[in-house]
Amino acid sequence: MSRPDSQSAAWFDRARAVTPGGVNSPVRAFAAVGGTPRFMASGRGAWLTDVDGNEYVDLVCSWGPMLLGHAHPEVLAAVGEAVARGTSYGTPTATEVELAEEIVARTPIERVRLVSSGTEATMSAIRLARGFTGRDVVVKFAGCYHGHVDSLLASAGSGLATFGVSTTPGVPESSAAQTIVLPYNDRAAVEAAFAEHGDRIACLITEASPGNMGVVPPEAGFNAFLAETCRRHGALFVSDEVMTGFRVSRSGQWGLDGAVEGWTPDLMTFGKVMGGGFPAAAFGGRAEVMAMLSPEGPVYQAGTLSGNPVATAAGLATLRLATDEVYARVDEVASTIATAATKALAGAGVPHVLQASGNMFSIFFTDAPAVPDYATAGGQDVGAFRAFFHAMLERGVYLPPSAFEAWFCSSAHDDRAVQQVLDALPHAAEAAAGAAR
Ligand SMILES: Cc1ncc(COP(=O)(O)O)c(C=O)c1O
Repeated sequence: MSRPDSQSAAWFDRARAVTPGGVNSPVRAFAAVGGTPRFMASGRGAWLTDVDGNEYVDLVCSWGPMLLGHAHPEVLAAVGEAVARGTSYGTPTATEVELAEEIVARTPIERVRLVSSGTEATMSAIRLARGFTGRDVVVKFAGCYHGHVDSLLASAGSGLATFGVSTTPGVPESSAAQTIVLPYNDRAAVEAAFAEHGDRIACLITEASPGNMGVVPPEAGFNAFLAETCRRHGALFVSDEVMTGFRVSRSGQWGLDGAVEGWTPDLMTFGKVMGGGFPAAAFGGRAEVMAMLSPEGPVYQAGTLSGNPVATAAGLATLRLATDEVYARVDEVASTIATAATKALAGAGVPHVLQASGNMFSIFFTDAPAVPDYATAGGQDVGAFRAFFHAMLERGVYLPPSAFEAWFCSSAHDDRAVQQVLDALPHAAEAAAGAAR
């Protein structure tokens, strides 16, 4: 049942002639799974169609943003209306304010600044934390990815894990030297780092629930412990919700965690869903901290396309459509697919672990009992995943092309789309069993 891929292959050849590796973001290249990356021509609802005319149920959802599925009619209408009025003014607009208000209403932050990518959001949050505290050192966790910011690229999860690179050339030693990297979910390591360097630490940044080494949820109370440790040492607690924000609940991971346990990050970062498929992201936090930001305060940060009127229209429409019913449907789809995947793999005798954070989940191809950190995630049988991935692709299911990623669903995943996934899973599980080491 081989699917045609000659048009994708031809485009990949052309792409490699003009672009490094033929892609504009590394994991798209299929380097971890082999084969021809599919060049997509269109998306509608739960479905993607490639340039050869193959249709796939999309379980990547643009790596998170497409909570409502592709080409949602009301999002398209909002974008169309915005485009018709012009694409960028370089002035304040009403839509930016409305998007900021929507973000503030859903989260514990008091002030927000819009930017164009998650990387820009975390980079700016760190500068602000350093400016606010007058300290330089940043603490992060191995396997957490916060964008390709110099100081945050030490041991950074999926892309790097996939390519087996522990750090990257091009980052000055002086920059890496300001970053302390700790094992995730390890309270003793956090205590020890703060005991030794506490008065030099500007902030600790963490994914609110890591999804970039596969989904590795925080152990109960871990985020609260981080917030409290930072507070005791005068450092800021930066919760990166670029992936989880407005996806795992209407208030992101904080809604599942901080709101329940009663704590608040000093700064938060957002992206993906809040841009509705356009380049929009944000960072925000306590009014006192955000007041340090230019033009109110001395910490400089700016952007020609920040708060772009088309991107903010898409983001605002998406968030306004992201109702409790939408989250209930995404949760239901995720749980159905995750349960069926683990059942199929168990049936085929493939060792694996299912981990979820709300509707974001991963299957780890490992015989470890659980995956609490990056070192354990790294022990996966990537050969088994590769076989599983290609068997799903052959049957019209587009999974993340790496064993170190979360699977994403949308509210547009209807029963037909879910059934196509369920039908494919037992075949993929058999393929994985055949390839297991
Ligand atoms: C948690 C997290 N932070 C930051 C980023 C960087 O966002 P962007 O790719 O928009 O620069 C990502 C991207 O996947 C992410 O998952």
